[in-house]
This record gives sequence, C-alpha cells and structure tokens, in this order.
Amino acid sequence: LQRLEYRGYDSAVAPPSTRAAKNMCGIVAYCGNAQAADILVAGLQRLEYRGYDSAGVAIIQKSEDSGGKQESKRQKSAAPKADGAEAKIKICKQAGKVANLAKACENSDVKGTLGIAHTRWATHGPPTDRNSHPHVSCDGKIAVVHNGIVENFAALKTKLEGLGYKMASDTDTELIAHLIYDVRKKKAMPLEEAVRQALTQVHGAFGLGVVCADEPDILIGARRGSPLILGIGDDEYVLASDASAVIERTRRVTYLNDGDMVVITRGAGYQIKSLDGVKLIREVQELEMSLQEIQKGEFKHFMLKEICEQPEVLENCMRGRLNHDTGDINLGGLTPYLQRIIAAPRIIICACGTSWHAALTGEYMIENLAKIPVEVEYASEFRYRNPVLYKSDVVVAVSQSGETADTLAAISLAKKHGCLTVGICNTVGSTIARETDCGVYLHAGPEIGVASTKAFTAQICVMCMIALKLLKEKGDDSTADFKKKLKALAALPDKVRKVLEEKEKVLNMSRVFRYASNFLYLGRGFNFPVALEGALKLKEISYIHAEGYPAAEMKHGPIALIDQFMPVVVIAPCNDPNAEKLQSNIEEVLARGGSVIAISDETKNEDLERKCEYVVHVPNTEEFLMPLLTVIPLQLMSYYIADMRQCNVDQPRNLAKSVTVE
Ligand code: F6R
Repeated sequence: LQRLEYRGYDSAVAPPSTRAAKNMCGIVAYCGNAQAADILVAGLQRLEYRGYDSAGVAIIQKSEDSGGKQESKRQKSAAPKADGAEAKIKICKQAGKVANLAKACENSDVKGTLGIAHTRWATHGPPTDRNSHPHVSCDGKIAVVHNGIVENFAALKTKLEGLGYKMASDTDTELIAHLIYDVRKKKAMPLEEAVRQALTQVHGAFGLGVVCADEPDILIGARRGSPLILGIGDDEYVLASDASAVIERTRRVTYLNDGDMVVITRGAGYQIKSLDGVKLIREVQELEMSLQEIQKGEFKHFMLKEICEQPEVLENCMRGRLNHDTGDINLGGLTPYLQRIIAAPRIIICACGTSWHAALTGEYMIENLAKIPVEVEYASEFRYRNPVLYKSDVVVAVSQSGETADTLAAISLAKKHGCLTVGICNTVGSTIARETDCGVYLHAGPEIGVASTKAFTAQICVMCMIALKLLKEKGDDSTADFKKKLKALAALPDKVRKVLEEKEKVLNMSRVFRYASNFLYLGRGFNFPVALEGALKLKEISYIHAEGYPAAEMKHGPIALIDQFMPVVVIAPCNDPNAEKLQSNIEEVLARGGSVIAISDETKNEDLERKCEYVVHVPNTEEFLMPLLTVIPLQLMSYYIADMRQCNVDQPRNLAKSVTVE
C-alpha cells in the first residue's frame, strides 16, 4: 500500500470527515404566504451552478399546513415526537441534482410557507442523502443550511460528542445545529439569541439559514465570508446566496454585509443586526438583472448562450463609457483615483482561474499602453506569501463573482497595508465590489455556465478601457493613434459577431479532435494568456488534459510530448509582430508529426493553410485587442468537444461557480 499510495491516499491520511474542506454551495430560504417548497426548489434550480452534488429543503409545517398524505421513504419528519407541538420540521433531501429533489418534493407532503433549502458542493463527507443539507439538531426542531466551512470543526465535534451529541452526518454544518440547540437548551433563550451565541463558537466562513419548530414564524440568516442577499417582496422574503434565486419573486433586495444577521418574522417584517446584536440599517436596492438573462432560451446550454452573447456583452460593457469621436473614456468609479493610479510605482492585479488569465492580459495592456509597471498574482499565493506592499501600490482584484475567497483575502491584505484597492467584478453588490475603494463593473449579465466565457471577454474589455484611460490621464492621448485604438475597441462587438459565424467550422473541427486525450495551446505576446485560457476551458468541461504555454517555451520541455496524437492549437495571427516566430513554432510541431490547429487573422497565408489541419480566421484588429477575438473559437471548440463527449457542460464535475471558501 505504501508503494501504491501515490494512486490515492485520502483515507490513509485522514478520514473524509476531518479533511480540510471547501464549500461553495447555494442557499435559499423563504418566508411568506406561498408554498415554500415550490419556491425553494425553483430557487435551488437557479443556484445549482454553485453546487450540484445533493440538495434538500426543510419546511416548517404547522398543523393547519399538513395534508393527509403518507410520508415517503425519503421524506422524514424531523420532529416525530413533537409532544403536541404546533409545528414540526419536514425535511426532504436527495443526493444528486436538484431535479431529483424536485421529484421527491412532488411525491411527498412538504407543505408550509416558511423554509430553508440548499444545493451542495460536497467536501465534508461524500455526496449522500445523509450528508445533504438541511441538518437538524438532535431533537429535530432546529434545521440549518450552511455555505462555508467550520474551521474549528475537529475541536467543536470533540466538544459536542463529549457532551453526548451523536453525529448523524460527516458534515461541519450539523455541528452548528447542535450548537444552537445546546445554547438554547441551557439558557432557554429565543432562537435569535441562541444563533448569535452559537456563532461566537464557530471559526471560519458561513452563509447560514436557520429555522426552528418552536418559533415557526421566524427565519434567520447570517453571514461571515459567504454571500447572502435578502429579497423583499409583498409580505414575503427570500434569502439567497445570489440574486438569481430571488429575481422571480422580487426585484427589491438588500445585500447583507459580513457579520450581519437578519431576523425575518412573519407579519412583522425583517430586522438586520450585527452578530453582536446591534441594529443596522442596510440600503434597499433594485435588481438590474432580468429573468431572461438567467434562462437558457433556445440554447442547449448556458455556456453556448453566454459565448454567443459576447457581442452584446462587449457593447454593454462599453456603453456610456467609450466615445471614440471625442476620444473620451468615462470610468466613473475610477475618476477620483486616477491621479493616484498613474502616480503608483506599480499596479498589482490579483485573481484566480480564468480571471487570472484576464488579469495577465491586463498586465500586457497596461504596460504596453500606459507604461505603468504591473504584476499579476494568483490571489491564493499572494495572500500567504507575505508580499512586500507599499501604501503607494494599487491592488486590483479581478473576479466575475466578486465572492472568490482568495481574491477577497488579497484585497483585505492590500487594505491592511494602506494600498488603494480596485475591483473589476461582474456581480453587482458582491463582496469584492463593496470591499474595494473603487472599481469598474463588467455589465456582462449573470454568468450561469460554470466555465467562464463572457465574463472573460468583458474583463479584458474593461482592462483595455483602463489601460487607455491611464494613457489619456498621463496626457498621451493627443495622437491620431489613440483615437484609432478607441475606434478599434468600439468596432469589436461586430468583429466578435463575425467570429461567431465560424461556428460551423469549429464544430466540424471539434468532431475530428474530440477523442484526443491531450492538447497543447501555444501563443505569444497578447495571445499567450489566450493559450492558457483555451487550455483551461477545454480541461474543465471536457476533462481532456490540456496545457497552455508561451510558444517559445515549447522547446524547453513540452515539445517532448508531441507526436501524431497531440493536437497543438497555435494562436498565430499573420500580422502579429511575432508572426514569423509563430510560423517556426508550427514547423517544429509538424516536424514531430503533431497536428496543428491555427487561429489566425484574415491576412492571406497559403503556406499556413497548407500546413495546418485547420485554420480558423478572425477579423484583423489592433494587436492588443486580438485576445478578444482569438479566444472565441477556443471557447467554442471546448464547448463542442465537451458536448460531443456527453459531458455536463454547464456543471462540470468537481467544479462550482463561486469559490467562496479557500
Ligand atoms: C474557469 C472559471 C474559474 C474562475 C475562478 C475565479 O472557467 O470560471 O477558473 O475564473 O474560480 O472566479 P471569479 O472570477 O468569480 O473570482
């Protein structure tokens, strides 16, 4: 076993229940006059991209709510011995997709107008019925859903087991239910106070929904580190991890801040307090999102819809910001800080995953155009590697969700050092958007497919505008070249439309390569981050191993992999300053029997056509804008290959959209 340990070593190191865990999950809770189960399941379906291993609901059922049906096998009454209590908690939970839960709820008898629900991305224990949320206290009267991680899990578990509590699951969430019960029982206190006191013992991140059969008209939510948004309807409230689960009921929302707790009491409205019990006022806002934006419409998958939306996304991103006639770029959020930014000795951009690739493009753009030094950091490394930071530094966070835990931590660190912090986020009202000093929204609309596509292009578009704005602020905008660049940026949506017309060709090409088990992606200059992004897209949704490299690095190692089974995608625009070097890289691949897929521009090049198995052409544009065009065929190819391999494109295995815990 020791010799074989490299093949799998989880259980030898630690049992699943004690392993460090991530937890992305989605929460939705309802208090109103409608049947909660329907609303909760619909909300979970919207949140399913956050986690899709298992799902469950807990509904407070008063005696007047209960129908005459028998309880199904899956659906248990969590308070069978309620001693004549008026209300009990009905739980319905299922491993697998929300669709399974929907069926289970249809066949059962979960009636009631107040409840909590959860869709899980399993870590603390496998995705089984038993580990699915909601989790209940030992008497079945308190139910909890939780997004986050209890960092002192082991200590709390030992303590609770010492007090005689028996664990019914492997999860950290169950501990919270027992803790609330324990505090409440000892001091005979109201649920609100018990939740508050129990949470003082919990270290780590949480977004929480709590209900209690003894206080059947109360719904409690609390957050620290994981997002929660409260939708305020007519006589009804929806509490959820994000706006997509709220929008069908109401557009009026308030975003809870870290350390907030909300207590919703049927018939008496809601009150937001700090975790110390201090009353707080939070602004109520109108959601900008539309229902259509979170529906698939005629598309087979959200990812394809989001790829095809990119022309409009870029238009929305630039709308009201870019005027190529006057040479103006208006980034309102940054205006008061521009002088500080151009005076900064360096800009540090922190991000994760696809957003990191966009950040890298941003580095190339800002250094090339505005000539300000830029460093790009993986947020997860930056936060822990004790970086040297000066007050004069500007730290930029790039994040689609605005909730990524590592990126958020990078911002907190930068703030501690007195740096100016800037957010580039898509999700309006997200934590990063609120925690940074200033920022720019992407206006890409909700991105539901787990693999990021339209947010990536919008992030690059924002980076372009920032680079050009900084150039202008430095007074270097007088040349005709500046206006030419703005014009080229404004012309991009139509050029993206043209690339999308190549769909059929990319589909055919994908058919040929769908069985390959490895891909190499090569690019230089502005297209190097695109090579990284192309490889990430393919591996995350089709599970094909893929690597992105700067083309010149191929000789330093990856060339050893090339043979007739290795498709190599080379981003090789012919009017690129590195075009000749890229052609040499293609020759090197061909000399070793590899097949080349080239992503090029419209410049005629018969040699390239002859040598490469496929050439996908994108319109010509300025060199720095090329990534916005060359990435589109790569997104499409990943999508088609994944779909042909019958992978779950929108919800790839093991991934979740919003990584709210490190
Ligand atoms: C890949 C993908 C992830 C995210 C990363 C950061 O398609 O979506 O790599 O880019 O988890 O997420 P955000 O941008 O929300 O901070």
